[in-house]
Amino acid sequence: MSAPKDQINRPIRDLRISVTDKCNFRCSYCMPKEIFGDDYVFLPREGLLSFEEIERFAKLFAKLGVKKLRLTGGEPLMRRDLPELVAKLMIIEGIEDIGLTTNGVLLGKYAKPLYDAGLRRLNMSLDALDPKIFGELNGRETKPDLILSNIDYAQSVGFEIKVNMVVQKGVNESEILPMAAYFKERGITLRFIEFMDVGNDNGWSFEKVVTKKEIYGMLKDVYEMEPSEPHYFGEVAKRYRYTDNGAEVGFITSVSESFCSSCTRARLSSDGKFFTCLFASEGFDLRSLIRSGVTDEALSNAIRGVWERRSDRYSDERMEQTAKNRKKIGMSYIGG
Ligand code: GTP
Ligand code: 5AD
Ligand code: SF4
Ligand code: SF4
Repeated sequence: MSAPKDQINRPIRDLRISVTDKCNFRCSYCMPKEIFGDDYVFLPREGLLSFEEIERFAKLFAKLGVKKLRLTGGEPLMRRDLPELVAKLMIIEGIEDIGLTTNGVLLGKYAKPLYDAGLRRLNMSLDALDPKIFGELNGRETKPDLILSNIDYAQSVGFEIKVNMVVQKGVNESEILPMAAYFKERGITLRFIEFMDVGNDNGWSFEKVVTKKEIYGMLKDVYEMEPSEPHYFGEVAKRYRYTDNGAEVGFITSVSESFCSSCTRARLSSDGKFFTCLFASEGFDLRSLIRSGVTDEALSNAIRGVWERRSDRYSDERMEQTAKNRKKIGMSYIGG
């Protein structure tokens, strides 16, 4: 059977798999402490898809056209034995690339086992080099030095690393140039992410967004840059190369220059719901289906049906009012 296309002709190419809704950070823009306090109830263990269930879904998605997997959380390294899952996913026919998005805290322990399991790409989050700003942002007073040394360590293990920085007006704008200088010198791609209205709890408004244009302008005053070719069709980040040393910098412009028309991404939550957009209100319950003992064919047909009904293009349509009033799934639940 042919690969499914959605209502505006987009195929399904990427699957982002969240393996846990837990995190050891409390970033204000994702899991604000006031909401995710000590009494917050996370998903029960039996509610999470098992590694076998995830593997089965990944195989079915691969048959429907998925070539790229990304493991996310919450914080994916909070899920026990993650390298075992990586090893299972690595050998699936049709999967050409697997990445992991992590805050990096636990990489001292897991970088080597992950590499040995076959993983080669890490996207690490770091929002500031200034200890006070970073400590406040991560909600746990974790020092940037821990993340920086884990970046060095993961690089020494052999990983290809990109760093994600979410920029919020009045919060960490002052860190744009120091972060750019630090990672440029090390040849690591830093990607500036426009603050997004994911979920309903992160206090987002257009005023708090620092746009690509603003950030690019700041960099342009200091560095000479030229655009780089996208690595693949529909790449999320727009990248530029510094002409003096060839290092790259990227921008993820969900707010100022949306990229829905080329969005080929599906998302699977840790409790087995299938979402066709980061800003969806509801997902399709694949866990109930898989646990009811259905065949691969029935599961595959269900996935196909959801994708063929898809018409999401939230970022294209974003307005302040809809951003505030629409019920949306949380970032820590779906993993970005
Ligand atoms: P690679 O290109 O494989 O490195 O992955 P990625 O950049 O897609 O993954 P990552 O988890 O590092 O995500 C970086 C940022 O892009 C996060 O803030 C994500 O929420 C955001 N992002 C990823 N995919 C989408 C998308 O489809 N829509 C929107 N609006 N944001 C996205
Ligand atoms: N806006 C933009 N990016 C976000 N991330 C988490 N919450 C937001 C938000 N509200 C980023 C994290 C991580 C990636 C998965 O998504 O910092 O790098
Ligand atoms: Fe955790 Fe990542 Fe959310 Fe921060 S952005 S709270 S590190 S899941
Ligand atoms: Fe894809 Fe939704 Fe993001 Fe648009 S807003 S790029 S449809 S996930």
